[in-house]
Amino acid sequence: MSGQKFKVAVLISGTGSNLKALIEAVSEKRLALEICLVISNRASAAGLDHARQAQIPIAVIDKTGFAGNLAQDREIVRALGQVSPDLVLLAGYMRVLGAGPVNAYRGRMINLHPSLLPRFPGLHTYQRVLEAGDTEHGGSIHFVTTELDGGPVISQVRIPVQSGDTAEALAARLSPREHQLLLATMELFTRRRVKMFPGGVMLDDSPLTRPLLLNSKGLFD
Ligand code: GRF
Repeated sequence: MSGQKFKVAVLISGTGSNLKALIEAVSEKRLALEICLVISNRASAAGLDHARQAQIPIAVIDKTGFAGNLAQDREIVRALGQVSPDLVLLAGYMRVLGAGPVNAYRGRMINLHPSLLPRFPGLHTYQRVLEAGDTEHGGSIHFVTTELDGGPVISQVRIPVQSGDTAEALAARLSPREHQLLLATMELFTRRRVKMFPGGVMLDDSPLTRPLLLNSKGLFD
């Protein structure tokens, strides 16, 4: 048997540049996985076009179709259940998921967040980094729990804050490094090397004492 591909469902809200990076890596066979579904909470999300072009099934689960957060969450669980993903990736999904989907996919749902967690959970991270005078910023991938941006951190990428940086400049510099972080982390998942356990993250059956750090080559040291 050629084996079952690792199946990933991706949730987005906007541009979808991380989804695009993932689609490209899959089509160029740099990653052995199947993107089985893309869900957006906005019908106008530009990222949906990347999914359409790659002929990936899409589902728009938004406020207009599903009144209230609970109804949206239930529909998300239903839609995911139909494709049985090995992993659910939140890549720029700007709506907070409730306990329903989070608990249904506990240990199988990850989020890409633009800060060096535990610093700056929540929104406007670039602005907050600048206001705090931090000399470093970065991105994190963490398991999703019911605590917002609070689940165990798997991997991180760091970038320096430069003098004269604006939030936009920082975001533009972080974005390509986030894509690399995502691809390197997804590779670990496709090889089934990463797991969540009650105390944090296991890599190859050993607990991680700190998040994996992406090096300048886009690999983990
Ligand atoms: C990324 O910066 C990610 O860290 C955050 O939302 C952004 C998504 O960007 N959660 P894109 O939609 O993938 O371009």
